Amino acid sequence: MLALGGVAASVTLSTLNAETVGAPPVLRINAGQVTAKVSPALYGLMTEEINYSYEGGLYGELIRNRSFKAGANEPKFWSALGGGVIALDPGAPLNEALNVSLKLDASRASKDSPAGVANGGYWGIPVHPKEKYHASFYARAAEGFHGPLKLAIASTNETADLASVEVAGLTSGWKKYEVTLTAKKGKASKDNIFTITTTSPGTIWFQQVSLFPPTFHDRANGSRPDIMQLLAGMNPKFLRFPGGNYLEGNDINTRFDWKKTIGDPSRRPGHPSPWGYWSTDGLGLLEYLDWCEDLQMEPLLAVFAGYALRHDYVKPGPDLEPYVQDALDEIEYVTGDPATKWGAQRARDGHPAPFPLHYVEVGNEDWFDKSGSYDGRFAQFHDAIKAKYPALQVIATTKVRDRQPDLLDEHYYRSREEMQAHAHDYDTYSRAGQTKIFCGEWATRVGSPTPNMAGALGDAAWMTGMERNSDIVLMSCYAPLFVNVSPGGMQWKTDLIGYDALTSYGSPAYYAQKMFSTHHGDVVLAASSENIPTFSWQRPAKRRNGVEQPPPPAQDVPTLFFDATRDSRNGTIYLKIVNTRGEAQPVQIEISGVSKIAGTGQSLSLKALNMEDTNSIQEPMKIIPIMEKATGLGANFTRIFPAYSITVLELKAK
Ligand code: AHR
Repeated sequence: MLALGGVAASVTLSTLNAETVGAPPVLRINAGQVTAKVSPALYGLMTEEINYSYEGGLYGELIRNRSFKAGANEPKFWSALGGGVIALDPGAPLNEALNVSLKLDASRASKDSPAGVANGGYWGIPVHPKEKYHASFYARAAEGFHGPLKLAIASTNETADLASVEVAGLTSGWKKYEVTLTAKKGKASKDNIFTITTTSPGTIWFQQVSLFPPTFHDRANGSRPDIMQLLAGMNPKFLRFPGGNYLEGNDINTRFDWKKTIGDPSRRPGHPSPWGYWSTDGLGLLEYLDWCEDLQMEPLLAVFAGYALRHDYVKPGPDLEPYVQDALDEIEYVTGDPATKWGAQRARDGHPAPFPLHYVEVGNEDWFDKSGSYDGRFAQFHDAIKAKYPALQVIATTKVRDRQPDLLDEHYYRSREEMQAHAHDYDTYSRAGQTKIFCGEWATRVGSPTPNMAGALGDAAWMTGMERNSDIVLMSCYAPLFVNVSPGGMQWKTDLIGYDALTSYGSPAYYAQKMFSTHHGDVVLAASSENIPTFSWQRPAKRRNGVEQPPPPAQDVPTLFFDATRDSRNGTIYLKIVNTRGEAQPVQIEISGVSKIAGTGQSLSLKALNMEDTNSIQEPMKIIPIMEKATGLGANFTRIFPAYSITVLELKAK
């Protein structure tokens, strides 16, 4: 038997060569031996603006390029209607932040030929029957024009508007207008546009043209309820934000500059995201925090650490001081009493109560910084944060020499085979140091735009390793979280949750996450195994300096994964078993260390006929977990686990 036990490892695993596959695997769980506590913060979420995660995703705004800053020379995503002529007008700004406007020359408008502007939203404007949509915009008009303007949601397939309302009383000064559009009866649809038209000739300027559907918890400037419900189902314990690359920006000027993302949304300048599109920053720092509050999770705040993606960096020392101060101010905004400067700002922004915060991450993936500046940058941030907030846990994004981070953020994007090959890595991870692990980005990258069953199986194999070792792996979160699956919506494939303008769905990997995060105990039980079947895997050859290196020797990789946790309050044992093979697998399960195990329990399982099977907008529930009564359980039983399956067996034990 090959022992994989490190200092706190709880599993021994025997690998068999191909010819010995066939002897049924045996799992032995010792419920009397606890090897670790399950970290209460193990399962969380990672998010950033990528794949139209917020704008065109979670953020409720339906108008694309509402502030006209997405293109420097043209009003991208807007078009003229009737005889209208539209152009960007830098000479008529709303304010310093929104320093351009959309000018509509409607001089040829008439009763028979309305002129105006149209916006197609993010691949459509969703309309649900009888729902109310909150429209708002800033406008001013040339002398003599008072309106009215007609705001409408119009179908691209039908002639009658789905909703419309009139706004009158425009003046030559900027003024905000707010109205409600109520959708008619009918079917839900997304092949719609938003229009503003007039039958009176004149010239009008617009800025911050906005349309919101009902939002989660009815928050103004809030989030899309269907996606929030999917997230709530995962019972996440934290939210790592705002990135990822989005935190860093392509260069320092386009980083996530949090002070420009708070306050009145019409005073936020917005910025280009490194993923190739404009962000209005409508979902800014306070909206992230509201999101945490709505799902009862804690923020895991990543602060900009003086390094941007195109290798622009700030030298540690005096040059870095303003950035360190910015991070301290940001922490104060999140946690400060309203008597503090930034706590007072948060209160003015609408949230007097401080938010809880335990984790601050310094930067993102700083192993890309080849200047060697991260050691110094991390030390400077670490010392300043610890001096002012000694209770905060500080996370490093790569190994550092000069300070001891509380956690180290490790990222893994891998194939299914690689995930399986590495699923036992943490069993032998040294427990000698004090730095714990945060798997802050990871995914089995199989399936596009969202992972298929192969992805879910690789993820589940990996999660058994994290859960079993959650004395050292304190926190984990899959990435990326979201993708708008409309054509052109994706920059990074294999994303947990997919959506278009109208509907959303969880991938098989989403359901695997949900099963793990909502079905576990608070302690890890000792477990060992025999006869685990393996397959021979040839790791792909690596390239170094453009030259392919000799491939490493083929290795035997397990195909069956498991871990056992227990709820110490009621005795329930959660046994997770992942069968990655295309055949049903009988497994003998022996449980010791308890006086009684009920013969009946529950089995929650996710399975597919093929590894490539997946969920989609068309088939959102093709692969979902099924909860069933499980019989024949006891201290020694054999159970058959289906091909390509992830199972949580719940056993009542005393
Ligand atoms: O998750 C996608 C990207 O992967 C993140 O922005 C970055 O941190 C990582 O390289």
